[in-house]
Amino acid sequence: ALERTFSIIKPDAVAKNLIGAIYNRFESAGLKIVASKMVHLTREQAEGFYAEHKERPFFGALVDFMTSGPIMVQVLEGENAVLANREIMGATNPADAARGTLRSDYANSIDENAVHGSDALASAEREIAYFFSAEEICPRTR
Ligand code: CMP
Repeated sequence: ALERTFSIIKPDAVAKNLIGAIYNRFESAGLKIVASKMVHLTREQAEGFYAEHKERPFFGALVDFMTSGPIMVQVLEGENAVLANREIMGATNPADAARGTLRSDYANSIDENAVHGSDALASAEREIAYFFSAEEICPRTR
């Protein structure tokens, strides 16, 4: 089915000048960017976005890292976009990520792992709404 998913290019990958390379992976796989912007998260924004991880031991480090520099947030649209983006990204831990995936090619560690992508359709809807208003999303008819 035609889906939308939410994606982040994290501070490590922005700092390495990888925005274009990563957008190329999305577009080459047939995913269309239907919304996009650069933001530098406040602690409050990062804590809210990752609220489900609040009790995890890595939560503080995650918020520190995600607020350490600007990120790119985008909405990707395409057939089975949620799963397609997860395949492009590879496993959360770059040590486990398949060759040719974004995490395998660009991530330093499980903490600084280059990209985030929604893990399911329901989280995609929630995450998209966290960053984008309806007017900021541009449906693509061609
Ligand atoms: P992300 O998809 O952005 O969601 C939460 C992030 O926490 C995850 O990617 C990782 O970068 C980071 N993280 C750090 N340690 C862990 C861990 N043990 N399990 C899952 N995520 C972790």
